[in-house]
Amino acid sequence: MAPKNRETFGSRMGMLLAMAGSAIGLGNIWRFPYTLGQNGGAAFLLLYVLMLVLICLPVMISEYLIGRRGGSNPFRTFDILAPGTKWRWIGFMAVLSSACILSFYCVVGGWSVKYLADACSGGLMSFDGDYSEFFGAFISNPWKPLFYTLLFLGITGLIIAFGVRKGIERMSKLMIKILFLIIVLVVIRSLTLPGAVEGVRYMFVPDFSKVTADTCIAAMGQAFFSLSIGCGCILTYASYVDKNENIAASSAWISFFDTAFAVIAGLAIIPAVYAIARMNGVDPNVSAGPGLVFITLPGVFKSMPLGGVAALLFFLTLLLAAITSAISLMEVVVAFIIEELRRSRVRAVLTSFLLCGGVGVFCSLSFGPLEGFKLFGLSVFDFFDYITSNILLPVGGLLLAVFAGWRLKRANYLDELTNCGNLNIPRWLALTIYYLVKLVAPLAISVIFLNCILS
Ligand code: PHE
Repeated sequence: MAPKNRETFGSRMGMLLAMAGSAIGLGNIWRFPYTLGQNGGAAFLLLYVLMLVLICLPVMISEYLIGRRGGSNPFRTFDILAPGTKWRWIGFMAVLSSACILSFYCVVGGWSVKYLADACSGGLMSFDGDYSEFFGAFISNPWKPLFYTLLFLGITGLIIAFGVRKGIERMSKLMIKILFLIIVLVVIRSLTLPGAVEGVRYMFVPDFSKVTADTCIAAMGQAFFSLSIGCGCILTYASYVDKNENIAASSAWISFFDTAFAVIAGLAIIPAVYAIARMNGVDPNVSAGPGLVFITLPGVFKSMPLGGVAALLFFLTLLLAAITSAISLMEVVVAFIIEELRRSRVRAVLTSFLLCGGVGVFCSLSFGPLEGFKLFGLSVFDFFDYITSNILLPVGGLLLAVFAGWRLKRANYLDELTNCGNLNIPRWLALTIYYLVKLVAPLAISVIFLNCILS
């Protein structure tokens, strides 16, 4: 049975903004621009949109639908919908995936706290030297990044401790509005720099010679990561939603805003990198990897007029976006602990803090004292990043789609999608979604995996 007296979101807007807050995060601002830069710009963007429509949107609708129908944490939800089967372990895997993501996510969240603090104090702009040294000295220090990582996780935990409405919903509503406002200001500053147009061209004129099997995996991983699907976040939030929501419309809305935000964040960063490179007579480097936002961008801000203000606004955006996503990740673990281990919300938050913070310490130290320690050839941080985005999330998505398409009855799926027939979704659309979930998404995910393994 679904637990009674569960918390719910207070309004439709609150629910949409909380889900959008989960989706919009470091994935859009930190990860998207450099992944785009490493994978050939516009060609990657096109591939990304294709994955979004054919795979991710149907998976998101299914995760939402399963969460609302089950009305519980991922583990219990599968037990309710398929009692006595092994499916609940898929739910458990989702909880683990969320914990793994949060463990490395909080490290980058911590970096944004540090950069925001430095932008406020003026220390970031007054630094006279190479920003790769600035960044390198910070992340390889054994203590400082740990402090900021745990601070970031602490802020996240504090918000969640207030509960679904007072904590998650209220903060997401506030933060997401500020976020859009600020990023638009930064885009205006970036696009009005002389030479910015080169960067815009890079983002929108495709070069298909750069597309390989790895590009497909990267685009799929990025889409799953950015939309927060495949690890129980949407499922858990959906369990706090009442039955009158239009699942397909909400999912489409969230995907649209998430993608729009990623493109806007790209427009804030890539044209500025091109413009400043031209000014300094060097080649633009947009494939600088995870350092793009923390090494290249401060240099860009420093060389442009009003750069100090732009830097402050930018790192504030980064931090707010990171927090609203981290909240959704921690809530998956917290809901599981509250409902399955029967702990209070505060104790569940503390346990998640210790668990994810504990692993986070290793992720953070992998840039310093633990640099030489490798898991399958990757540093601890890269291992968690790669394995979650490129493997766990798509596999989670695949299983969710298989469950929704093959285990739930077709009539139940369509019923839930149309709120028991009360909602005006044309039947052809409902059926198209159903077959995308049942056939196209699982097939496409499998083909992309196989292609990568075989190439
Ligand atoms: N979507 C978030 C981002 O773009 C990250 C995230 C992934 C959050 C998976 C929840 C679940 O930063």
